[in-house]
Amino acid sequence: MPFFKKNEKAAAVSEALPVHIGIIMDGNGRWAKKRGLPRKAGHSAGAKTFRKITRYCSDIGIKYLTVYAFSTENWKRPEDEVNSLMNLFKPYLEEALADFKDDSIVVKFIGDKAPFSDDLKKLMIENEKSSADRDGMVLNIAMNYGSRDEIVRAVKNISSDVKNGRLSENEIDEQLVSDYLYTAGQPDPDLIIRPSGEYRISNFLLWQSAYTEFVIMNKLWPDFEKSDLDEAIQIYAGRNRRYGGV
Ligand code: FPP
Repeated sequence: MPFFKKNEKAAAVSEALPVHIGIIMDGNGRWAKKRGLPRKAGHSAGAKTFRKITRYCSDIGIKYLTVYAFSTENWKRPEDEVNSLMNLFKPYLEEALADFKDDSIVVKFIGDKAPFSDDLKKLMIENEKSSADRDGMVLNIAMNYGSRDEIVRAVKNISSDVKNGRLSENEIDEQLVSDYLYTAGQPDPDLIIRPSGEYRISNFLLWQSAYTEFVIMNKLWPDFEKSDLDEAIQIYAGRNRRYGGV
């Protein structure tokens, strides 16, 4: 039986419901290989799952969802795989403009936009601008995102603000560092889900996940169902979060 009934927004009031979920959308390549298909078919199936699970998170009252779509390390993949991912992002981001509007989803991109094509950059900025005033779930799409890179950028920006006098050294504390990250102003993730059975963080939200609960699931991302999300939330709800206390 699913943890939450369809559209059960009241679940939002449940203490068991994480405020912020992160998802490492892993296993697209293996999904395709199992079917004798090219890897790009796996990414295409994964993109459909992304859309389904995003809407479901919004339906059940999740306030923040961060999905890992493309890491700073993914550029190392063969050129045709990188190109097929870029070609996939374009129509999805175009559709997202219209699609997520119905759910009042606020779309943000975390990561460095600079290396993307002008078309993609424009779409990313349009998505951010046109959704900024909505009041629904915040969807962070991590694209060209790497947490170490994010932290290095924060350190550089803090140091230049100290140098130019905008900041004094004794103002630097954990909160200030958080405020210099892409996720500034957002709560840390309560739950990170990694499908496909891999036990790795892969440079995802390293600073933000200091006290996050991890749930690893033995399902490849394109096969991931709403019921799998319910199951992950149920596992999370059974955890005893102590934040270093007793
Ligand atoms: C990791 O699986 C997945 C990726 C590197 C790409 C994820 C992208 C999507 C699901 C598309 C989402 C679309 C938008 C617009 C956000 P893998 O290729 O490493 O799988 P493997 O470990 O089985 O090889």
